[in-house]
Amino acid sequence: MLNVENRFLKYLGVISLVVMMVACAWTAILTLIFILFQPRRFLRLLMPCFVVCLLPSTGFHNNLGSSAPSFIPICVGVAGMEIFMRVGLVGLGAMGSAHLTNYLAMKENNEDVELVAICDVDEKKLSSSEATMGNLDVSKAEFDLSPYKHYTCMEEMISKENLDFVDLCLPTYLHAPMAIKAMELGVHVFCEKPMARSSDACNEMITVAKRTGKKLMIGHTLRYWDSYAFAKDYIDRNIFGKCLSGYFYRGGGTPIWSWENWLLTKERSGGCLLDQHVHDVDTIVWMFGLPKAVSTTGVNVIPGSGYDIVSTNYIYDDGKVINAQDDWVINGEGYGFDMLFRLNFEKGALIFEKGKLMVHPVGGEAYEAKLEGNNAYYDEIILFAKLIKGDSPFDYIALLESHRDTIILAEAEEKSADSGGAVTVIEKN
Ligand SMILES: NC(=O)c1ccc[n+]([C@@H]2O[C@H](COP(=O)([O-])OP(=O)(O)OC[C@H]3O[C@@H](n4cnc5c(N)ncnc54)[C@H](O)[C@@H]3O)[C@@H](O)[C@H]2O)c1
Repeated sequence: MLNVENRFLKYLGVISLVVMMVACAWTAILTLIFILFQPRRFLRLLMPCFVVCLLPSTGFHNNLGSSAPSFIPICVGVAGMEIFMRVGLVGLGAMGSAHLTNYLAMKENNEDVELVAICDVDEKKLSSSEATMGNLDVSKAEFDLSPYKHYTCMEEMISKENLDFVDLCLPTYLHAPMAIKAMELGVHVFCEKPMARSSDACNEMITVAKRTGKKLMIGHTLRYWDSYAFAKDYIDRNIFGKCLSGYFYRGGGTPIWSWENWLLTKERSGGCLLDQHVHDVDTIVWMFGLPKAVSTTGVNVIPGSGYDIVSTNYIYDDGKVINAQDDWVINGEGYGFDMLFRLNFEKGALIFEKGKLMVHPVGGEAYEAKLEGNNAYYDEIILFAKLIKGDSPFDYIALLESHRDTIILAEAEEKSADSGGAVTVIEKN
């Protein structure tokens, strides 16, 4: 006859055994799934669990070792539940091809970000291995698209793929509607620059990001580009004293690769002003804040495309001289694409030309800044993944508001150019 105590111990023993068996079965099943489908993740995340599991047999750390079997399933579960970001790429044109190149590099580097699906309305893009080449040398020329699920509709991809975020490499006029739709459907959104076709659309995106709690980040690459970040640091830390002047330039051949020629359709892209020049507009907002007024001259060369050449003076209260120029009709042989900046301060100058950043201190020797030459397209995605995971505390709403200010500034530039360069006051509503 069992006494109460013995019976209790027996039940406890049986329950423990069942729990252990379920835990072991769970561990075995998940481990098998990982080995079969995610060998890379298995090696990286689960091997440490197995090392802990083996500790008792080594005779060391007996206490830790004896509790190992109970936390292995937990580790397996946590690893499976997600440390990794599942990404869906939307738009496989020139920029989508560049992003895809970076997702392949992330896989090679064992980053916690994994592209699982690609969506493009143009089915030809999904069945071809050839990349769409833009004006920047940032993409592989060919891809194997077979490892990814293919979709022609973003909503369907989101509903089927259990994504953490979508990466929108879409024509500018689609940024706001598609980002809003994706956030409403419950995923975070990384969206290429510029933020949207209008500042009103930017405000709608911010409202939806706040309401849904979904993270939204804009791929304004120059903010993550080491030479531009170096200059921003000089300004913020006052290293060369007050900034006296700044000149920013971008220019190159006409973009002729775009889907339905949207880049050369003013209503869809905003022309060179909102597509290419906007990089420098955003940099100026980032470095110096909104000016009080602008004066812009612009020229239309290609029918229907908006301003193809622009030059703007940014008027600040402290009188510093800031100018930016862009021209995307430099179609003469052999030019390609170029971007540069020159910043002059009380105690020195920073000159970025031909990919080289020179530091010229007043009264000292000039030298080239020691920069590693980062891949900003790669780094911005990694930063976004960290933001989603809570590993990066930057205020993404403030960042969005700053990118929205960029569009407010671009709109003022367009208004000024429309009136032949009249000084146009920035109105922030
Ligand atoms: N950060 C940078 O340096 C940089 C450089 C170039 C372009 N961009 C930006 O990237 C974005 C895309 O430019 P691009 O040159 O790749 O254009 P693109 O025309 O080459 O590519 C756009 C792609 O979107 C697809 N598409 C259109 N509507 C769609 C929809 N509803 N759903 C899914 N796919 C759809 C098209 O088929 C096409 O493949 C633009 O906003 C542009 O300003 C950024």
